[in-house]
Amino acid sequence: MKTILITGGAGFIGSHVVRRFVNNYPNYRIVNLDALTYAGNLENLKDVETADNYIFEQADITDPAKLKQVFEKYRPEGVVHLAAESHVDRSISGPMAFIQTNILGTVNLLTAAKDLWNGNWEGKRFYHISTDEVYGSLGEEGLFFEDTAYDPRSPYSASKASSDHLVRAYFHTYGLPIVISNCSNNYGPNHFPEKLIPLAIHRIQNKEEIPIYGKGENIRDWLFVEDHASAIDVVFHKGGLGETYNIGGNNEWTNIDLIKLLCKIMDEKLGREAGSSEKLITFVKDRAGHDLRYAIDSTKLKTELGWEPSLTFEEGLPKTVDWYLNNEAWLNNVTSGAYQNYFKQQYQER
Ligand code: NAD
Ligand code: TYD
Repeated sequence: MKTILITGGAGFIGSHVVRRFVNNYPNYRIVNLDALTYAGNLENLKDVETADNYIFEQADITDPAKLKQVFEKYRPEGVVHLAAESHVDRSISGPMAFIQTNILGTVNLLTAAKDLWNGNWEGKRFYHISTDEVYGSLGEEGLFFEDTAYDPRSPYSASKASSDHLVRAYFHTYGLPIVISNCSNNYGPNHFPEKLIPLAIHRIQNKEEIPIYGKGENIRDWLFVEDHASAIDVVFHKGGLGETYNIGGNNEWTNIDLIKLLCKIMDEKLGREAGSSEKLITFVKDRAGHDLRYAIDSTKLKTELGWEPSLTFEEGLPKTVDWYLNNEAWLNNVTSGAYQNYFKQQYQER
């Protein structure tokens, strides 16, 4: 049995990746390493927590001694690294946690893998999950390619850019078998409601104001989270060593158009008068250094590795709304903070 260590598996994207790997690869032992910060929620993984090939390990990637212990205990052949501080607004108000986790934490992991594998790279792989935000902000034209120069502009994207550079440095300097992907904005089930789409769904449900930064003209390229997980599966298994793959939905939306579409979908689903939720839209002070536009070219991933997203936005957004409406308890537990008791009840009081 092959052991794969997935970091950040209790988070939004990580939980979809863990579920996919646990279900699709019974011959893999999946170790989910997560510190359970405010963004880590083991309720996301209730359906797989008793699977024979799944283990949860609470550990902080900023703690090199603990990482060494975990690596020696499980001796993973593969690492899929998603653990990160991930919210731009939090990086503006408190950048240091981003430096600690995203930069130092990544170096700690690289070092733990390098020390364990000790030059025996055969069958080993360190896969670093990154973001399109490292490329900076586009004007009205153009796309991000794998060789677009890095130009990060928020503490979050600067910390992710630093981690990408360090991952490549370990490849070039030590020969560590790495692969990197940079993905556009994800949406879907289990998204922490500080991010635009789940925040808006929650607010519409409660008939509260929907805060839109600036004039809502900023553009993001949205991808359904399970399609990101399927791309991660493909890159992990088929990606070339030392290579980078861009992952995107070819699905650009201004924030205001996206929220208007969401309002329309929710009015229909909640049986509210057409146009009523749109009245909740409130323009608020813009985010500092707000990147205008992100858009990914994922031709390399499609042509070289044969990946395609399975859902259009018109399919994925209503599906996402349905998930939140059907999982009110999840949303209530997250917004009340009750989800943080889950680990205690599930693991420590048994
Ligand atoms: P998230 O914030 O939902 O989850 C992050 C997870 O990492 C949480 O479970 C948290 O507990 C864990 N974590 C944080 N600090 C840790 C530490 N010091 N040690 C161990 N675990 C720690 O994030 P997400 O949206 O799921 O993003 C996952 C990864 O994908 C990140 O690396 C992010 O940069 C990248 N990414 C995200 C998006 C997106 O749209 N969300 C897009 C592209 C790339
Ligand atoms: P977000 O979900 O934070 O992702 P990112 O900043 O990583 O792209 O934000 C998506 C877009 O929505 C971004 O342009 C900022 C904007 N936004 C708002 O207008 N209002 C909000 O309350 C939030 C959280 C984001």
